[in-house]
Amino acid sequence: MKPTILITQKLPENVIDYLKAHCECRYWTPSSDSTIEEALKGVDGVMVSGIAINEKTLSMADRLKVVSTISVGYNHLDIEAMKAKGVVGTHTPEVLDDTVADLVMALMLGAARRIASLDAYVKSGNWLPTDVETLFGLDVHHKKMGIIGMGRIGRQIVKRATAGFDMTVMYHNRHRDEEAERLWGITYASISELLSEADFVVLMVPLTESTRGLMDADAFRKMKNTAIFINASRGQTVDEAALIHAVEHGEIWGAALDVFCQEPIDADNPLLKHPRILTVPHIGSATEETRTRMAMSAAENLVAVLNDKEAPYLIPAFKKQ
Ligand code: DGY
Repeated sequence: MKPTILITQKLPENVIDYLKAHCECRYWTPSSDSTIEEALKGVDGVMVSGIAINEKTLSMADRLKVVSTISVGYNHLDIEAMKAKGVVGTHTPEVLDDTVADLVMALMLGAARRIASLDAYVKSGNWLPTDVETLFGLDVHHKKMGIIGMGRIGRQIVKRATAGFDMTVMYHNRHRDEEAERLWGITYASISELLSEADFVVLMVPLTESTRGLMDADAFRKMKNTAIFINASRGQTVDEAALIHAVEHGEIWGAALDVFCQEPIDADNPLLKHPRILTVPHIGSATEETRTRMAMSAAENLVAVLNDKEAPYLIPAFKKQ
């Protein structure tokens, strides 16, 4: 008998076909009549992306073996609650590295060259004013980038920044990446040094208790007043009030954000009102090709666990020591 799984979002056709070949599929979305708790009753596996999985959502799960998230980040999964229920978690690293790195470059260029506000400016019937300097942005090429969190995505950002934009790169990470230092001539720095020297500070850390609120008022004060802050990690790594204060008071030049403390962001959030803050709706990995690869990777993880095979990408906390 095939295992039964729950699909909680629209998936590409090839992924649905793959899942149907291996499992009985049930469907649930937040707009369904039942709750997620009820929907998890009687299923062996579930595919999620943003839905929180915790003690409450697992309360009626009576035979669940695996939660497969279509994301590299898994801060929406309560690992301890899953372990207590004997449920394992899988995620989708690697397939999105280039795509997220591309978005980081787009955010950096977009903020420095003010692309979104200039687009709105031209589309409202304007052209170059006599005081054209009011439209000036900042150079990106030959500047210094500081990356906090040098994982697989960080490495792809380094390649783009050094080879494409002649930037020098400094980084901070829990562990030094000596190979990356050799390959691309990047330098290891303390967070303080990095903040005070970089022209572009890129935050790429996972959300953990030690990174929550990492970018606070003190951190923004250390940055140059010509620097731009870029966050493509998780919103909760930043004290948003401190960030808006830093931009409004000229402590930093601007920011570009893919992620926010609250998603969807509240329409009244002051981050949405400042012209030097570029915002996009958590779309780091959101291209047709990459989201399809991520969904297939998640499906393969799920099917492997349900067949008692080693999942290609088990979340590290579930790996046997
Ligand atoms: C992830 O996969 O965790 C990303 O945030 C999605 O863009």
